[in-house]
Amino acid sequence: MTAKKPQIVIVADAAAVAEAAARRLLNRISHGNRAAVCLTGGSSPLGLYHLLASDPWRNQVPWDRVHWFVGDDRFVPESGPLSNMGTAKRIFLDRVPAPPQNIHPIPTDADSPDDAARLYEDELKRFYGAERLEPRRPMFDMVLMGLAPDGHVASLFPHSPALKEKERWVLGVAKAGMEPFVPRVTLTLPALAATGEMLFLIDNANRRPIFKRVLAGEDLPAHRAYAQGDLVWLAIRAAAPEQ
Ligand code: 6PG
Repeated sequence: MTAKKPQIVIVADAAAVAEAAARRLLNRISHGNRAAVCLTGGSSPLGLYHLLASDPWRNQVPWDRVHWFVGDDRFVPESGPLSNMGTAKRIFLDRVPAPPQNIHPIPTDADSPDDAARLYEDELKRFYGAERLEPRRPMFDMVLMGLAPDGHVASLFPHSPALKEKERWVLGVAKAGMEPFVPRVTLTLPALAATGEMLFLIDNANRRPIFKRVLAGEDLPAHRAYAQGDLVWLAIRAAAPEQ
């Protein structure tokens, strides 16, 4: 786990979460020849996705240089409403000048979640240019994360053996621990950690109890998440436990 203390950033409401996330994202992707962002599922990134598709944010993203991955997906067709990458595409990636080769969905048309995981791991390794993750060379500039009511992150559910995975970058998940109960494909904790910034988005007051448990150090997937770079919790005031 990281030695660095997580930063907690509290803002007024869901609109402010989206704005602050957009600012942080732009800051992370504005330098260098190439940038990589790992998207998340759920409802918490949707405000950010809408901002990225609209001005002034849309004009500020260096679309040619940014590559878009996803931290987990449901093993369903991309055209359906449950697909995390499908949702990101419909809300912003299909509406902006992002080159198609910069968009890296988990291949949910593979024969099985395990096959999709192997294919995605190969794709990540090709992109990263090495077979092993190097501690001081993050794969991503930013990894977005949501906090589920049961404390799961990506598709790493409480008590899952996948939480202990150290070698693999991507795994198939035959049984989801929460709705929707469809098989999943997920990045592992070390792969998600390979980032300059891991940004958790909490834009709903109903996440206050689980956020409190995570910050108190309970052994939940969200507490196990770590980052090579900064780990930031961006939350609305109504979800912050100190209230
Ligand atoms: C998924 C997600 C999942 C999500 C959390 C939080 O595919 O189900 O990636 O891990 O991020 O459930 O969801 P909300 O953003 O809706 O709170």
